[in-house]
Amino acid sequence: MTPTDTLDDLSSPGPAAPHSAPVMLALHQTALGGPEVLRLTELPRPAPGPGEILVAVHAAGLNPTDFKHRALSIFLPPPPLILGWDVSGTVVETGLGVTLFQPGDEVFGMLPYPYGAGSHAEYVTGPTRAFVAKPTGIDHIQAAALPLAALTAWQALVETAGLRAGQRVLIHAAAGGVGHLAVQIAKERRAHVTGTASAPKHAFLRELGADACIDHRSEDFTDTEERYDVVLDALGGETATRSVGVLRPGGVLISLVPGAEDTRAAAEKAQVRAVTLIVEHDQAGMRAIADLVDGGRLRAHVSATFPLAEGARAHVLGETGRTTGKLVITVR
Ligand SMILES: NC(=O)c1ccc[n+]([C@@H]2O[C@H](COP(=O)([O-])OP(=O)(O)OC[C@H]3O[C@@H](n4cnc5c(N)ncnc54)[C@H](OP(=O)(O)O)[C@@H]3O)[C@@H](O)[C@H]2O)c1
Repeated sequence: MTPTDTLDDLSSPGPAAPHSAPVMLALHQTALGGPEVLRLTELPRPAPGPGEILVAVHAAGLNPTDFKHRALSIFLPPPPLILGWDVSGTVVETGLGVTLFQPGDEVFGMLPYPYGAGSHAEYVTGPTRAFVAKPTGIDHIQAAALPLAALTAWQALVETAGLRAGQRVLIHAAAGGVGHLAVQIAKERRAHVTGTASAPKHAFLRELGADACIDHRSEDFTDTEERYDVVLDALGGETATRSVGVLRPGGVLISLVPGAEDTRAAAEKAQVRAVTLIVEHDQAGMRAIADLVDGGRLRAHVSATFPLAEGARAHVLGETGRTTGKLVITVR
């Protein structure tokens, strides 16, 4: 990076790719670092391999894993990289053997996590079974906000915890990307939902259906007689370990941030199940999410959108860790 590089430079594409194949603009990085490493760059357009579709991206969700992988090699190889796992768009081309989609279909999905990233671009390829038809009642921005966060909530609450009617669930960071969808999914299962968020966000949680709210700035969530069947923890560290104490024996703690040894030891002692979940691409899960959307039982709250050229600004905002619902990058 030169001293003159600023986020404002993102609106000028980088040098053209040296070939005559179809090209696209992408939010590209050639080094790990802060948001300034993201450059709008002209790159070769990918071609779909066997079992894949090429999607013209209309909108792409942003998730904390994007900020984390921009800065650190967590799961992905070192740059060059295009980030982005959430996508909503139109099928442009199908690879060999694809039977489920055809050009013109409107789809949304989560690219295989972690190695399939690339949706912060004008085009992306992915396996057909990462996608389903976009619900007709929502636009691409709404659709792009859902996949990774909603699949995480679905895989945690429904598939891992087997959440049932009448059970009590505590959702940490309930106003965030995962949390606000988890509240709705838990209510749809007819569970009793408590969410943690700062007080100004409690009205939002109530609108989503939360039965009780805890202000994490002024209240201690462990200061209660309540014993939950399930805790969904998107915060990790001490919050995860302390969450063990509010679970009933036999309850389950699902951590979205890899757990500490302390948490495992506390869980064993308290006879609760403590698991770490890493979201997986999943067509059945995406169908379930699309059905909930179609039925009016799940909606993403999109608090801000950014054009692709200003994707770095979305990273700056997201990294504050204070956003409500989702941020989405608009592409076309
Ligand atoms: N393992 C996986 O597969 C997986 C999948 C998805 C996400 N994740 C991880 O889960 C975490 C959350 O993801 P996200 O998309 O939901 O993030 P997010 O949208 O950035 O979460 C922002 C929210 O977190 C809340 N928050 C911050 N500190 C809090 C605290 N101490 N107590 C309660 N709420 C707090 C904020 O509310 P206030 O402003 O009110 O504090 C804000 O609304 C990230 O670390 C992400 O990487 C993991």
